[in-house]
Amino acid sequence: MSIKDIAPPDLQGRTVIVTGGGQGIGEAYSHAFAEAGCKVVVADINGDNASKVAREIAGNTDQAIGIETDISDEAETQEMASAALAAFGRIDVLINNAALYTTVTRAIFDELPLDEWRRVMDVNVTGTFLCARAVLPAMRKQNWGRIVNVSSSTVAMGRPAFLHYVTSKAAVVGMTRSMAREIGVDGITVNCIMPGLTETGIDASGVDEDTRDLIVRMQAIPRREVPQDLVGTLLYLASEASGFVTGQTIAVDGGTIHL
Ligand SMILES: NC(=O)c1ccc[n+]([C@@H]2O[C@H](COP(=O)([O-])OP(=O)(O)OC[C@H]3O[C@@H](n4cnc5c(N)ncnc54)[C@H](O)[C@@H]3O)[C@@H](O)[C@H]2O)c1
Repeated sequence: MSIKDIAPPDLQGRTVIVTGGGQGIGEAYSHAFAEAGCKVVVADINGDNASKVAREIAGNTDQAIGIETDISDEAETQEMASAALAAFGRIDVLINNAALYTTVTRAIFDELPLDEWRRVMDVNVTGTFLCARAVLPAMRKQNWGRIVNVSSSTVAMGRPAFLHYVTSKAAVVGMTRSMAREIGVDGITVNCIMPGLTETGIDASGVDEDTRDLIVRMQAIPRREVPQDLVGTLLYLASEASGFVTGQTIAVDGGTIHL
């Protein structure tokens, strides 16, 4: 699939911030938006990875910047927005993708350290909120913006030893609906995608081969999900085409049956 063939044309020249863009699914999103003709701000707590992805995208051009950002730190999210404005003059789209996922400690909930619970909430919930808040002034000024939050289809399933993560991703669904109600009047939409279990080549602790096969059997499209499967929905939600769609959560998981 060529991104150029499926990308809505109005994405050309838009400025897109991808949090967690230095690795995994966010790295694929960063490349996809670049191929769609956008200016890309790759923000990640791992600054080296953010810079590496930005360099790969931009080459000798000014199409992308990488910025080290801890999304759970309010000042750093504001610096991220300032850097985007300094480089490109606008912020059109925020892909609120960064989260603690592959690195979370898994434990049955009565044994889960409270610090670990708080760390996951701080990044996955508060960080998502802070990034949206940081880009809001620029989007309001333009009277146009697209915020896409990232939940997970595990919310519809539940998953043992993962209560902190699943709870955080359920919060993102409610956050999406409420945020959308507050800023629709400003020409800004807020939507959410729910990826299924997605292969990125990065080891996700606690997901063994049997679990991966089981999930494929629960899907209407019976093959393992890859980051490219998410891109089309994301490009649509970032574009003019989705202008009257807001507060929605779309499962992009091959039609997984949730009993
Ligand atoms: N891979 C899957 O199967 C899957 C399924 C459903 C949902 N998701 C969601 O998709 C998103 C990406 O997942 P992934 O598989 O690429 O995960 P990943 O762990 O490979 O990547 C997460 C990225 O976020 C960054 N990050 C972590 N904490 C941060 C912070 N405080 N500030 C800024 N950046 C931070 C990491 O450095 C990393 O680059 C996450 O929101 C995840 O919850 C993933």
